[in-house]
Amino acid sequence: MNGEPDLANTATEQAFVEFERVQKSYDGEILVVKDLNLSMPKGEFLTMLGPSGSGKTTCLMMLAGFETATHGEIKLGGKPINNIPPHKRGIGMVFQNYALFPHMTVAENLSFPLEVRKIGKSEREEKIMRALGMVQMQDFAGRRPAQLSGGQQQRIALARALVFEPELVLMDEPLGALDKQLRETLQFEITRLAHDLGITTVYVTHDQTEALTMSDRVAVFDDGRIQQLAPPDQLYEEPENSFVAQFIGENNTLLGKVSKIAGDQCEVTLDDGEIIDAKPVNVTEVGQRTRVSIRPERVEMNKERLSPDAHTLKAEVLEFIYMGDIFRTRLRVAGNDDFVIKTRNAPDQVRLTPGTQIDIGWLPQDCRALDA
Ligand SMILES: Nc1ncnc2c1ncn2[C@@H]1O[C@H](COP(=O)(O)OP(=O)(O)OP(=O)(O)O)[C@@H](O)[C@H]1O
Ligand SMILES: [Mg+2]
Repeated sequence: MNGEPDLANTATEQAFVEFERVQKSYDGEILVVKDLNLSMPKGEFLTMLGPSGSGKTTCLMMLAGFETATHGEIKLGGKPINNIPPHKRGIGMVFQNYALFPHMTVAENLSFPLEVRKIGKSEREEKIMRALGMVQMQDFAGRRPAQLSGGQQQRIALARALVFEPELVLMDEPLGALDKQLRETLQFEITRLAHDLGITTVYVTHDQTEALTMSDRVAVFDDGRIQQLAPPDQLYEEPENSFVAQFIGENNTLLGKVSKIAGDQCEVTLDDGEIIDAKPVNVTEVGQRTRVSIRPERVEMNKERLSPDAHTLKAEVLEFIYMGDIFRTRLRVAGNDDFVIKTRNAPDQVRLTPGTQIDIGWLPQDCRALDA
């Protein structure tokens, strides 16, 4: 209680989960997690999304206490937990391969984490029934895991993670083995439970739709680093680098060089000589190589919607696909045969035939000049 108020410190006090400059190496040579910094407020639902081998599970394992950080500090509720064993961290866990105990009934599976925590019999029974109720499995208390479907087992695993009312729950691809419909149902149930119970959740997946629909924020991992940490809409609309632009959602890219730059607009000369307008995101100087990125639904074919001085590009229609709610048209643009545009299926929307030449353009703010 000495000293003056420290604003930087106040911010840290509100953080519930913190990774500070965390590094991890399994072999003493290669860092599979490199300088990870992450701060989560209580109650947040955060998803770690990234390709295989990018370090997601390793981060979860360090937070759970099954692996130790090679460097840096992990804090929970403002306190370092590097030296606290897993069962004392009060963390609930659901893993794809973290199976239920096969020889125990559902009720016994749920009882286990409570017994470990020395909770008395009557209180245990009450908590077990409440947890089963949360996942709508009250009628299955006496069954063994083998007598349940995959989705039901996953629900029980979720109930077991929640039964001791943890403040933090970690989930590593908990729905990976389930079919699409069941996955969507459980995605909804998990987010509802997490929000209703005020649980802080770290969720790992490599399914981007799952990440975008479930999370308050998404940390996109690649190569042991967080490439971008942002709410879903910002991640999709404002990717900060080429990796994120490519990894999240469908994306068109064109390669070129920055030929003019002023404030938040730049001009890019594409490799075939054509000129386009973009927003400089990852580029700062004239002459720099860049990969411009534009979402298929932001490409404009209607010149009236563009500013009069906007640059347009010639495009040839290669393929037109009717998809019900939208039309998906593949174009050849500046030598790229995989340039896709999406248009809404409206009564006045033309259906383009292959071979047609059209002009396309965009608002500069919808086209992002990123690292090459
Ligand atoms: N116990 C271990 N010993 C040695 N290397 C490991 C160990 N666990 C993971 N690794 C390596 O660390 C890197 C990160 O692995 P991690 O399991 O964290 O990736 P991930 O992002 O969870 O991938 P996935 O999506 O495939 O589950 C990989 O290169 C992996 O081979
Ligand atoms: Mg993993």
